[in-house]
Amino acid sequence: MPKGIVSSNLTASAKFIMDNKKLKYIEKYYLNNYADGDVDKEIEAVGSFIAKESAGRVLDCGCGPVPQIYAIFMPQMKELYAIDLPQESIDFVKEKIALRGKWYQTFLPYQKVVESIYGVQPESYILKQIEKIKDIQQADMTENLPFPDEYFDTVISFYSLGCLNNEEELNKAIYNIKRVLKTGGKLLHINTNGKNSNNELPAYTWRGLDQTSKLIKKYLKNSGFNIISEKQVDLFPNKDSMYTYSNISLLKAEKL
Ligand SMILES: C[S@@+](CC[C@H](N)C(=O)[O-])C[C@H]1O[C@@H](n2cnc3c(N)ncnc32)[C@H](O)[C@@H]1O
Repeated sequence: MPKGIVSSNLTASAKFIMDNKKLKYIEKYYLNNYADGDVDKEIEAVGSFIAKESAGRVLDCGCGPVPQIYAIFMPQMKELYAIDLPQESIDFVKEKIALRGKWYQTFLPYQKVVESIYGVQPESYILKQIEKIKDIQQADMTENLPFPDEYFDTVISFYSLGCLNNEEELNKAIYNIKRVLKTGGKLLHINTNGKNSNNELPAYTWRGLDQTSKLIKKYLKNSGFNIISEKQVDLFPNKDSMYTYSNISLLKAEKL
């Protein structure tokens, strides 16, 4: 559904069909990208990046169905909060968290990525990381982030700023992220070099902005961030069956 169409005009059955479509997408996204616990080149790069760089109180902004998985990669994180646009993502994650005892062992290979940096972790490591998730809620990052000013040490925004519809939304999202970050706090951002134009997928998942890395740097600088580092990781050939991209950019910026 294009953003801006108010769903209160929809009949209950049309809304049910749409919600169901969203849920299917969220499950498919999870299954396609994360569910098997395999550490491929992309996961290795992303996992090592956040394992080293995220600390303290962390916000996952545009978390999709996976903040409980990124929690595994953040041993220095003390508390994790997460927001996403569709309520279905939030419900999906809450269920995953409730059932963590059933699936956490699938992600022991993710724990190994952390151990390659920080040394051997206890058997209970993954469950302890998931317990650090304090809250997950529905929010639109282009409207408002429901947290006080200067609340977070780290904001992670992975593959999500590129899903915004236009530069105005990108500018608003960066303004909101800046507000909730502490001075000196870090924004960790990941995007792909792809542009998803698959009309079968819900609009909020489109990687709508071309050249997001270039754009995001422009808006970050304009908003008073200092770009600390950017690393490109070549993934070719990429086996992702939902999106087309051959490269990811891992960017770290600091709020001045
Ligand atoms: C490609 S998914 C990435 C999910 C997850 N961060 C990951 O690394 O797999 C993009 C996410 O951005 C979210 N998103 C898009 N627009 C948003 C907005 N305006 N506010 C909050 N989240 C948004 C989508 O709902 C989706 O979960």
